Amino acid sequence: MATLYRKTNGQGVQVEDTRVVVVMVGLPARGKSLIAQKVVRYLRWLSIKAKAFNVGSYRRQDTPQPTADFFDTSNKDGERMRHAAAEAAVKDMLKWFKTDGGAVAILDATNSTKARRRWVRERCADNGIETLYVESKCDSEETIMANIMEVKTTSPDYEGQDPEAAALDFLNRIRNYEKVYETIDEDEKDLTYVKLIDVGKQVIINQIQDYLQSRVVYYLMNLHIRPRSIWLSRHGESEFNLSGKIGGDANISERGQLYARALPDLVASSVGDDRRLTIWTSTLKRTIQTARFLAASPKGYDKLEWKALDELDSGVCDGLTYQEIADQYPEDFKARDDDKYNYRYRGGESYRDVVIRLEPIIMELERSENIIIVTHQAVLRCIYAYYMNVPQEQSPWMEVPLHTLIKLTPRAYSTEEQRFDANIPAVSTFRSKGSTAKHQ
Ligand code: ATP
Ligand code: F6P
Repeated sequence: MATLYRKTNGQGVQVEDTRVVVVMVGLPARGKSLIAQKVVRYLRWLSIKAKAFNVGSYRRQDTPQPTADFFDTSNKDGERMRHAAAEAAVKDMLKWFKTDGGAVAILDATNSTKARRRWVRERCADNGIETLYVESKCDSEETIMANIMEVKTTSPDYEGQDPEAAALDFLNRIRNYEKVYETIDEDEKDLTYVKLIDVGKQVIINQIQDYLQSRVVYYLMNLHIRPRSIWLSRHGESEFNLSGKIGGDANISERGQLYARALPDLVASSVGDDRRLTIWTSTLKRTIQTARFLAASPKGYDKLEWKALDELDSGVCDGLTYQEIADQYPEDFKARDDDKYNYRYRGGESYRDVVIRLEPIIMELERSENIIIVTHQAVLRCIYAYYMNVPQEQSPWMEVPLHTLIKLTPRAYSTEEQRFDANIPAVSTFRSKGSTAKHQ
Protein backbone atom coordinates (compact mmCIF):
# COMPACT_ATOMS: atom_id res chain seq x y z
CA MET A 1 0.00 0.00 0.00
CA ALA A 2 1.22 3.44 -0.83
CA THR A 3 1.98 5.60 2.16
CA LEU A 4 1.21 9.25 2.31
CA TYR A 5 2.38 11.85 4.79
CA ARG A 6 1.52 15.44 4.78
CA LYS A 7 1.66 18.43 7.05
CA THR A 8 -1.87 19.59 7.62
CA ASN A 9 -2.60 23.24 8.38
CA GLY A 10 -0.11 23.34 11.20
CA GLN A 11 -1.63 20.44 13.13
CA GLY A 12 1.72 18.73 13.11
CA VAL A 13 2.75 15.73 11.10
CA GLN A 14 -0.21 13.64 10.11
CA VAL A 15 0.23 10.10 9.05
CA GLU A 16 -2.33 8.89 6.60
CA ASP A 17 -2.91 5.41 5.28
CA THR A 18 0.29 4.32 6.90
CA ARG A 19 0.35 0.91 8.43
CA VAL A 20 3.58 -0.56 9.64
CA VAL A 21 4.40 -3.57 11.75
CA VAL A 22 7.65 -3.19 13.65
CA VAL A 23 8.81 -6.78 14.03
CA MET A 24 11.20 -7.24 16.94
CA VAL A 25 13.97 -9.80 16.43
CA GLY A 26 16.48 -11.19 18.91
CA LEU A 27 17.30 -13.70 21.61
CA PRO A 28 15.56 -13.37 24.98
CA ALA A 29 16.71 -10.58 27.32
CA ARG A 30 17.92 -8.32 24.52
CA GLY A 31 15.63 -5.44 25.44
CA LYS A 32 12.98 -6.13 22.80
CA SER A 33 10.01 -5.51 25.10
CA LEU A 34 11.60 -2.38 26.49
CA ILE A 35 12.21 -1.05 22.98
CA ALA A 36 8.66 -2.00 21.93
CA GLN A 37 7.12 -0.16 24.87
CA LYS A 38 9.24 2.93 24.34
CA VAL A 39 8.39 3.14 20.65
CA VAL A 40 4.68 2.87 21.49
CA ARG A 41 4.95 5.62 24.10
CA TYR A 42 6.87 7.89 21.73
CA LEU A 43 4.44 7.42 18.83
CA ARG A 44 1.35 7.86 20.99
CA TRP A 45 2.83 11.06 22.37
CA LEU A 46 3.10 12.21 18.75
CA SER A 47 -0.58 11.23 18.22
CA ILE A 48 0.26 8.22 16.08
CA LYS A 49 -1.92 5.26 16.92
CA ALA A 50 0.43 2.52 18.12
CA LYS A 51 0.16 -0.71 20.06
CA ALA A 52 2.51 -3.52 21.10
CA PHE A 53 1.49 -7.17 20.74
CA ASN A 54 3.59 -9.29 23.06
CA VAL A 55 3.55 -12.93 22.01
CA GLY A 56 4.80 -13.95 25.48
CA SER A 57 1.54 -12.81 27.05
CA TYR A 58 -0.46 -14.87 24.54
CA ARG A 59 1.72 -17.91 25.33
CA ARG A 60 1.20 -17.33 29.06
CA GLN A 61 -2.55 -17.84 28.69
CA ASP A 62 -1.93 -21.57 28.11
CA THR A 63 1.52 -21.99 29.60
CA PRO A 64 1.97 -19.50 32.42
CA GLN A 65 5.21 -20.84 33.87
CA PRO A 66 7.14 -22.92 31.32
CA THR A 67 10.56 -24.35 32.06
CA ALA A 68 13.43 -23.97 29.61
CA ASP A 69 12.69 -27.24 27.77
CA PHE A 70 9.36 -25.80 26.58
CA PHE A 71 11.50 -23.64 24.26
CA ASP A 72 13.54 -26.55 22.88
CA THR A 73 12.53 -26.96 19.21
CA SER A 74 12.60 -30.74 19.60
CA ASN A 75 9.70 -30.34 22.06
CA LYS A 76 6.78 -30.80 19.65
CA ASP A 77 4.08 -29.70 22.10
CA GLY A 78 6.09 -26.61 22.95
CA GLU A 79 6.58 -25.81 19.26
CA ARG A 80 2.88 -26.16 18.54
CA MET A 81 1.83 -23.97 21.44
CA ARG A 82 4.40 -21.32 20.63
CA HIS A 83 3.27 -21.16 17.05
CA ALA A 84 -0.36 -20.91 18.20
CA ALA A 85 0.57 -17.96 20.45
CA ALA A 86 2.30 -16.19 17.53
CA GLU A 87 -0.75 -16.88 15.32
CA ALA A 88 -3.11 -15.46 17.93
CA ALA A 89 -1.01 -12.31 18.37
CA VAL A 90 -0.72 -11.71 14.62
CA LYS A 91 -4.45 -12.30 14.16
CA ASP A 92 -5.34 -9.77 16.86
CA MET A 93 -2.82 -7.35 15.43
CA LEU A 94 -4.29 -7.52 11.93
CA LYS A 95 -7.76 -7.08 13.40
CA TRP A 96 -6.58 -4.03 15.32
CA PHE A 97 -5.40 -2.41 12.10
CA LYS A 98 -8.80 -3.01 10.52
CA THR A 99 -11.18 -2.18 13.33
CA ASP A 100 -9.24 0.38 15.37
CA GLY A 101 -7.51 2.20 12.53
CA GLY A 102 -4.06 1.46 13.96
CA ALA A 103 -0.96 2.92 12.30
CA VAL A 104 2.00 1.16 13.92
CA ALA A 105 1.94 -2.22 15.63
CA ILE A 106 4.95 -3.70 17.34
CA LEU A 107 5.14 -7.47 17.19
CA ASP A 108 7.12 -8.21 20.31
CA ALA A 109 8.54 -11.72 20.05
CA THR A 110 11.92 -13.28 19.31
CA ASN A 111 11.05 -13.86 15.62
CA SER A 112 14.41 -15.54 15.64
CA THR A 113 14.29 -17.62 12.46
CA LYS A 114 14.20 -16.58 8.83
CA ALA A 115 11.14 -18.77 8.30
CA ARG A 116 9.23 -16.99 11.06
CA ARG A 117 10.17 -13.58 9.68
CA ARG A 118 9.01 -14.54 6.16
CA TRP A 119 5.76 -15.80 7.60
CA VAL A 120 5.12 -12.49 9.40
CA ARG A 121 6.02 -10.58 6.28
CA GLU A 122 3.61 -12.53 4.12
CA ARG A 123 0.77 -12.20 6.61
CA CYS A 124 1.32 -8.44 6.71
CA ALA A 125 1.83 -8.01 2.95
CA ASP A 126 -1.42 -9.91 2.29
CA ASN A 127 -3.12 -7.21 4.30
CA GLY A 128 -1.27 -4.31 2.66
CA ILE A 129 0.88 -3.63 5.72
CA GLU A 130 4.60 -2.79 5.65
CA THR A 131 7.11 -4.52 7.89
CA LEU A 132 10.14 -3.01 9.60
CA TYR A 133 12.40 -5.52 11.37
CA VAL A 134 14.27 -4.34 14.44
CA GLU A 135 16.92 -6.75 15.62
CA SER A 136 18.62 -6.27 18.96
CA LYS A 137 21.89 -8.18 19.03
CA CYS A 138 24.00 -8.21 22.13
CA ASP A 139 26.60 -10.76 23.17
CA SER A 140 27.86 -9.07 26.32
CA GLU A 141 27.35 -11.67 29.05
CA GLU A 142 27.46 -8.93 31.64
CA THR A 143 24.57 -7.01 30.02
CA ILE A 144 22.51 -10.15 29.54
CA MET A 145 23.01 -11.27 33.15
CA ALA A 146 22.12 -7.78 34.38
CA ASN A 147 18.97 -7.84 32.21
CA ILE A 148 17.97 -11.25 33.55
CA MET A 149 18.40 -10.16 37.15
CA GLU A 150 16.63 -6.83 36.54
CA VAL A 151 13.53 -7.98 34.70
CA LYS A 152 13.40 -11.72 34.09
CA THR A 153 13.56 -13.14 37.60
CA THR A 154 10.61 -10.93 38.51
CA SER A 155 8.60 -11.73 35.36
CA PRO A 156 5.25 -13.54 35.70
CA ASP A 157 7.02 -16.58 34.16
CA TYR A 158 8.88 -17.05 37.42
CA GLU A 159 6.49 -15.58 39.99
CA GLY A 160 6.96 -17.19 43.38
CA GLN A 161 10.20 -18.90 42.34
CA ASP A 162 13.69 -18.61 43.72
CA PRO A 163 15.49 -15.84 41.73
CA GLU A 164 18.69 -17.85 41.31
CA ALA A 165 16.86 -20.90 39.99
CA ALA A 166 14.83 -18.58 37.74
CA ALA A 167 18.01 -16.96 36.34
CA LEU A 168 19.51 -20.39 35.64
CA ASP A 169 16.37 -21.58 33.89
CA PHE A 170 16.26 -18.38 31.84
CA LEU A 171 19.87 -18.93 30.72
CA ASN A 172 18.85 -22.40 29.56
CA ARG A 173 15.91 -20.88 27.73
CA ILE A 174 18.36 -18.62 25.89
CA ARG A 175 20.56 -21.66 25.06
CA ASN A 176 17.54 -23.31 23.43
CA TYR A 177 16.83 -20.26 21.33
CA GLU A 178 20.50 -20.00 20.36
CA LYS A 179 20.30 -23.44 18.71
CA VAL A 180 17.96 -22.08 16.03
CA TYR A 181 18.54 -18.32 16.07
CA GLU A 182 19.45 -16.78 12.73
CA THR A 183 20.57 -13.20 12.71
CA ILE A 184 19.28 -11.06 9.84
CA ASP A 185 21.85 -11.38 7.05
CA GLU A 186 22.50 -11.05 3.32
CA ASP A 187 19.72 -13.53 2.46
CA GLU A 188 17.24 -11.04 3.85
CA LYS A 189 18.49 -7.89 2.18
CA ASP A 190 15.09 -7.38 0.60
CA LEU A 191 13.69 -6.75 4.09
CA THR A 192 13.46 -3.32 5.65
CA TYR A 193 15.46 -3.61 8.84
CA VAL A 194 17.59 -2.00 11.48
CA LYS A 195 20.10 -3.97 13.53
CA LEU A 196 21.04 -2.51 16.90
CA ILE A 197 24.30 -4.09 17.98
CA ASP A 198 25.52 -3.89 21.58
CA VAL A 199 22.83 -1.47 22.70
CA GLY A 200 23.27 0.85 19.73
CA LYS A 201 27.11 0.97 19.63
CA GLN A 202 26.73 -0.09 16.03
CA VAL A 203 23.60 0.34 13.93
CA ILE A 204 22.99 -1.24 10.52
CA ILE A 205 20.11 0.10 8.47
CA ASN A 206 18.68 -1.47 5.35
CA GLN A 207 16.01 -0.25 2.91
CA ILE A 208 14.19 2.24 5.12
CA GLN A 209 11.28 3.35 3.00
CA ASP A 210 9.46 6.35 4.33
CA TYR A 211 9.19 9.16 6.82
CA LEU A 212 7.52 7.24 9.62
CA GLN A 213 10.00 4.37 9.42
CA SER A 214 12.90 6.80 9.46
CA ARG A 215 11.49 8.55 12.56
CA VAL A 216 11.25 5.22 14.36
CA VAL A 217 14.78 4.25 13.30
CA TYR A 218 16.21 7.61 14.35
CA TYR A 219 14.49 7.28 17.72
CA LEU A 220 15.94 3.77 18.18
CA MET A 221 19.41 5.02 17.31
CA ASN A 222 19.23 7.53 20.14
CA LEU A 223 18.25 5.13 22.92
CA HIS A 224 20.71 4.09 25.59
CA ILE A 225 20.38 2.22 28.88
CA ARG A 226 22.97 3.96 31.02
CA PRO A 227 21.50 5.02 34.37
CA ARG A 228 20.33 8.63 34.40
CA SER A 229 17.60 10.98 35.57
CA ILE A 230 15.81 14.01 34.20
CA TRP A 231 14.94 16.92 36.48
CA LEU A 232 12.07 19.23 35.64
CA SER A 233 11.24 22.55 37.21
CA ARG A 234 9.07 25.48 36.32
CA HIS A 235 10.66 28.91 36.63
CA GLY A 236 10.37 30.69 39.97
CA GLU A 237 7.17 32.66 40.51
CA SER A 238 7.03 35.56 38.03
CA GLU A 239 5.54 39.06 38.16
CA PHE A 240 2.96 37.89 35.61
CA ASN A 241 2.07 34.90 37.79
CA LEU A 242 1.40 37.35 40.63
CA SER A 243 -0.96 39.44 38.54
CA GLY A 244 -2.63 36.40 36.96
CA LYS A 245 -1.47 37.22 33.44
CA ILE A 246 -0.45 34.52 31.00
CA GLY A 247 2.53 34.45 28.64
CA GLY A 248 4.83 37.47 28.42
CA ASP A 249 8.45 37.75 29.36
CA ALA A 250 8.29 38.99 32.93
CA ASN A 251 10.96 38.93 35.63
CA ILE A 252 10.68 36.58 38.54
CA SER A 253 9.12 37.93 41.74
CA GLU A 254 10.88 38.21 45.10
CA ARG A 255 9.62 34.76 46.02
CA GLY A 256 10.78 33.55 42.61
CA GLN A 257 14.25 34.88 43.50
CA LEU A 258 14.18 32.88 46.71
CA TYR A 259 13.43 29.77 44.69
CA ALA A 260 16.29 30.54 42.31
CA ARG A 261 18.66 30.83 45.28
CA ALA A 262 17.31 27.63 46.85
CA LEU A 263 17.54 25.63 43.63
CA PRO A 264 21.25 24.63 43.80
CA ASP A 265 20.78 22.98 47.23
CA LEU A 266 17.45 21.46 46.26
CA VAL A 267 19.03 19.95 43.17
CA ALA A 268 22.12 18.77 45.08
CA SER A 269 19.98 17.00 47.66
CA SER A 270 17.94 15.31 44.94
CA VAL A 271 20.98 14.18 42.95
CA GLY A 272 22.57 12.41 45.90
CA ASP A 273 26.01 11.96 44.29
CA ASP A 274 28.58 13.99 42.33
CA ARG A 275 26.99 13.66 38.90
CA ARG A 276 27.33 16.74 36.73
CA LEU A 277 24.06 17.94 35.31
CA THR A 278 23.47 20.02 32.22
CA ILE A 279 20.95 22.82 32.58
CA TRP A 280 18.47 23.57 29.82
CA THR A 281 16.31 26.68 30.01
CA SER A 282 13.98 28.43 27.61
CA THR A 283 15.00 31.77 26.09
CA LEU A 284 12.64 33.69 28.39
CA LYS A 285 13.89 35.78 31.29
CA ARG A 286 12.02 33.91 34.00
CA THR A 287 13.72 30.56 33.35
CA ILE A 288 17.15 32.08 32.82
CA GLN A 289 16.85 34.05 36.07
CA THR A 290 15.69 30.91 37.88
CA ALA A 291 18.69 28.90 36.70
CA ARG A 292 21.19 31.68 37.39
CA PHE A 293 22.55 30.41 40.70
CA LEU A 294 22.44 26.82 39.58
CA ALA A 295 24.53 27.70 36.54
CA ALA A 296 27.04 29.45 38.80
CA SER A 297 27.24 26.52 41.23
CA PRO A 298 30.72 25.18 42.04
CA LYS A 299 29.69 21.91 40.37
CA GLY A 300 30.24 23.72 37.08
CA TYR A 301 27.02 22.75 35.34
CA ASP A 302 26.87 23.57 31.63
CA LYS A 303 23.88 25.57 30.43
CA LEU A 304 21.94 25.72 27.18
CA GLU A 305 19.01 27.93 26.14
CA TRP A 306 16.40 26.38 23.86
CA LYS A 307 13.75 28.33 21.98
CA ALA A 308 11.80 25.06 21.82
CA LEU A 309 11.39 25.26 25.61
CA ASP A 310 9.61 28.65 25.51
CA GLU A 311 6.09 28.69 26.93
CA LEU A 312 3.08 27.83 24.78
CA ASP A 313 2.43 30.91 22.67
CA SER A 314 -0.94 32.35 23.65
CA GLY A 315 -1.09 34.65 20.58
CA VAL A 316 -3.60 37.50 20.93
CA CYS A 317 -4.25 36.44 24.54
CA ASP A 318 -0.65 36.96 25.59
CA GLY A 319 -0.54 39.26 28.61
CA LEU A 320 -4.22 38.78 29.53
CA THR A 321 -5.71 37.15 32.62
CA TYR A 322 -8.04 34.17 32.18
CA GLN A 323 -10.95 36.47 33.15
CA GLU A 324 -9.99 38.93 30.43
CA ILE A 325 -9.80 36.12 27.88
CA ALA A 326 -13.27 34.91 28.94
CA ASP A 327 -14.60 38.48 28.57
CA GLN A 328 -12.90 39.38 25.29
CA TYR A 329 -12.90 35.98 23.55
CA PRO A 330 -15.76 34.00 25.15
CA GLU A 331 -16.01 31.51 22.28
CA ASP A 332 -12.31 30.82 22.37
CA PHE A 333 -12.39 30.44 26.10
CA LYS A 334 -15.08 27.79 25.81
CA ALA A 335 -13.44 26.07 22.86
CA ARG A 336 -10.23 25.75 24.86
CA ASP A 337 -12.05 24.19 27.79
CA ASP A 338 -13.83 21.79 25.44
CA ASP A 339 -10.62 20.51 23.88
CA LYS A 340 -7.62 22.03 25.57
CA TYR A 341 -5.08 19.78 23.85
CA ASN A 342 -6.12 20.80 20.35
CA TYR A 343 -7.26 24.37 20.90
CA ARG A 344 -4.87 26.80 19.24
CA TYR A 345 -4.80 30.41 20.48
CA ARG A 346 -5.44 32.92 17.72
CA GLY A 347 -2.00 33.69 16.37
CA GLY A 348 -0.51 31.27 18.86
CA GLU A 349 -0.16 27.59 19.67
CA SER A 350 -2.00 24.54 20.95
CA TYR A 351 -0.60 21.82 23.22
CA ARG A 352 -0.43 19.66 20.10
CA ASP A 353 1.81 22.28 18.47
CA VAL A 354 4.03 22.35 21.54
CA VAL A 355 4.48 18.57 21.45
CA ILE A 356 5.57 18.74 17.82
CA ARG A 357 8.16 21.43 18.56
CA LEU A 358 9.37 19.46 21.59
CA GLU A 359 10.16 16.36 19.56
CA PRO A 360 13.84 17.31 19.05
CA ILE A 361 14.06 17.96 22.79
CA ILE A 362 12.80 14.44 23.53
CA MET A 363 15.25 13.00 21.02
CA GLU A 364 18.12 14.90 22.64
CA LEU A 365 16.95 13.84 26.11
CA GLU A 366 17.01 10.20 25.02
CA ARG A 367 20.61 10.59 23.84
CA SER A 368 21.72 12.41 26.98
CA GLU A 369 22.27 11.72 30.64
CA ASN A 370 21.30 13.86 33.64
CA ILE A 371 19.61 16.97 32.31
CA ILE A 372 17.78 19.56 34.41
CA ILE A 373 15.15 21.49 32.49
CA VAL A 374 13.88 24.82 33.79
CA THR A 375 10.83 25.69 31.74
CA HIS A 376 7.16 26.63 31.81
CA GLN A 377 3.83 25.14 32.87
CA ALA A 378 2.54 23.94 29.47
CA VAL A 379 5.94 22.78 28.20
CA LEU A 380 6.66 20.91 31.39
CA ARG A 381 3.28 19.15 31.13
CA CYS A 382 4.15 17.96 27.62
CA ILE A 383 7.59 16.63 28.59
CA TYR A 384 6.18 15.00 31.71
CA ALA A 385 3.40 13.39 29.64
CA TYR A 386 6.02 11.72 27.43
CA TYR A 387 7.85 10.12 30.35
CA MET A 388 4.78 9.24 32.38
CA ASN A 389 2.58 8.16 29.47
CA VAL A 390 -0.18 10.65 30.34
CA PRO A 391 -3.07 10.65 27.84
CA GLN A 392 -3.64 13.77 25.75
CA GLU A 393 -7.01 14.60 27.31
CA GLN A 394 -5.37 14.76 30.74
CA SER A 395 -1.97 16.29 30.15
CA PRO A 396 -3.05 19.95 29.67
CA TRP A 397 -4.98 19.78 32.95
CA MET A 398 -2.21 18.42 35.16
CA GLU A 399 -1.27 20.39 38.24
CA VAL A 400 2.40 21.28 38.20
CA PRO A 401 3.07 23.55 41.17
CA LEU A 402 5.65 26.31 41.17
CA HIS A 403 8.75 25.96 43.39
CA THR A 404 8.79 22.18 43.09
CA LEU A 405 11.52 20.06 41.56
CA ILE A 406 10.49 16.84 39.80
CA LYS A 407 13.03 14.05 39.32
CA LEU A 408 12.21 11.36 36.77
CA THR A 409 14.30 8.19 36.59
CA PRO A 410 13.64 5.82 33.68
CA ARG A 411 13.54 2.17 34.80
CA ALA A 412 13.20 -0.94 32.62
CA TYR A 413 9.49 -0.66 31.86
CA SER A 414 8.44 2.52 33.67
CA THR A 415 9.61 5.89 34.97
CA GLU A 416 10.08 6.56 38.67
CA GLU A 417 9.03 9.97 39.96
CA GLN A 418 10.15 11.95 43.00
CA ARG A 419 9.05 15.47 43.91
CA PHE A 420 11.04 17.92 46.03
CA ASP A 421 9.13 20.86 47.45
CA ALA A 422 11.31 23.95 48.08
CA ASN A 423 8.81 25.13 50.71
CA ILE A 424 8.81 28.65 49.32
CA PRO A 425 5.30 30.04 48.91
CA ALA A 426 4.06 30.88 45.40
CA VAL A 427 0.72 31.51 43.71
CA SER A 428 -0.98 28.59 42.06
CA THR A 429 -1.32 29.14 38.32
CA PHE A 430 -3.54 26.11 37.92
CA ARG A 431 -6.94 26.82 36.38
CA SER A 432 -9.60 24.15 36.46
CA LYS A 433 -12.09 23.69 33.63
CA GLY A 434 -14.69 26.46 33.49
CA SER A 435 -12.95 28.64 36.06
CA THR A 436 -11.58 32.13 35.51
CA ALA A 437 -10.30 32.46 39.05
CA LYS A 438 -7.25 34.64 39.37
CA HIS A 439 -4.02 32.94 40.39
CA GLN A 440 -3.73 32.82 44.20
P1 ATP B 1 12.17 -11.72 26.05
O1 ATP B 1 12.50 -12.26 24.70
O2 ATP B 1 12.40 -12.67 27.17
O3 ATP B 1 10.81 -11.11 26.12
P2 ATP B 1 13.37 -9.08 25.71
O4 ATP B 1 14.38 -9.11 24.62
O5 ATP B 1 12.02 -8.56 25.38
O6 ATP B 1 13.26 -10.54 26.35
P3 ATP B 1 13.39 -7.15 27.80
O7 ATP B 1 12.39 -7.78 28.71
O8 ATP B 1 12.95 -5.96 27.06
O9 ATP B 1 14.04 -8.26 26.86
O10 ATP B 1 14.71 -6.80 28.64
C1 ATP B 1 14.78 -5.56 29.31
C2 ATP B 1 16.22 -5.34 29.70
O11 ATP B 1 17.00 -5.15 28.51
C3 ATP B 1 16.39 -4.07 30.52
O12 ATP B 1 17.18 -4.43 31.63
C4 ATP B 1 17.12 -3.10 29.60
O13 ATP B 1 18.04 -2.31 30.32
C5 ATP B 1 17.85 -4.01 28.64
N1 ATP B 1 18.01 -3.47 27.28
C6 ATP B 1 17.35 -2.45 26.70
N2 ATP B 1 17.76 -2.26 25.43
C7 ATP B 1 18.70 -3.19 25.19
C8 ATP B 1 19.50 -3.51 24.06
N3 ATP B 1 19.40 -2.80 22.90
N4 ATP B 1 20.36 -4.55 24.16
C9 ATP B 1 20.46 -5.26 25.31
N5 ATP B 1 19.73 -4.99 26.42
C10 ATP B 1 18.88 -3.98 26.37
O1 F6P C 1 0.24 31.11 33.95
C1 F6P C 1 1.50 30.61 33.66
C2 F6P C 1 1.57 29.99 32.27
O2 F6P C 1 2.89 29.49 32.09
C3 F6P C 1 1.18 30.92 31.10
O3 F6P C 1 2.24 31.73 30.62
C4 F6P C 1 0.67 29.94 30.06
O4 F6P C 1 -0.15 30.53 29.05
C5 F6P C 1 -0.11 28.99 30.93
O5 F6P C 1 0.61 28.88 32.16
C6 F6P C 1 -0.25 27.61 30.36
O6 F6P C 1 -1.15 26.88 31.18
P1 F6P C 1 -2.68 26.58 30.67
O7 F6P C 1 -2.45 25.84 29.41
O8 F6P C 1 -3.25 25.74 31.79
O9 F6P C 1 -3.41 27.87 30.43
